[in-house]
Amino acid sequence: MKIAVGADHAGLELKDHLRRYLEQQGHAVHDFGTHSPESTDYPDYAERVGRAVAGGEADRGLLVCGTGIGMAIAANKIPGIRAANCFEPYTAELAREHNDANVLTLAGRILAPPYAEATLQAFLDTDFAGGRHQRRIDKMSALDGSPAARP
Ligand code: RB5
Repeated sequence: MKIAVGADHAGLELKDHLRRYLEQQGHAVHDFGTHSPESTDYPDYAERVGRAVAGGEADRGLLVCGTGIGMAIAANKIPGIRAANCFEPYTAELAREHNDANVLTLAGRILAPPYAEATLQAFLDTDFAGGRHQRRIDKMSALDGSPAARP
């Protein structure tokens, strides 16, 4: 998979850990930064990763800030992005299965790396279920004017 990743200063360490984790699995990772521990603004990275996913350059996105909340709020402003802030594997699984989430946001200040890995893995391994959920995705796509995720 092509995966776009990004973080602010609070998510840098976990983002770098997960970038290596993804690369070890053979994914093509585009790291949009940040690359330094200096204080920076999470919407800048949410925008870069969100546009890469919405534009089709990446299959999925991963964003890490202190809580994952700011990244989710910012990324969800971009038409076509369905970003889910998850803290454990089961919500990540449902975010894919029911919500066809295309961006996962994680809490760098809260999640231990093995837990973050498991949450990310569930996000990557789970397919969208379609069916009645597609109708709901179409309604969300109509809200932001983006093309429906699937025909
Ligand atoms: C930065 O201090 C912090 O506010 C940010 O990383 C994030 O948690 C925002 O939601």
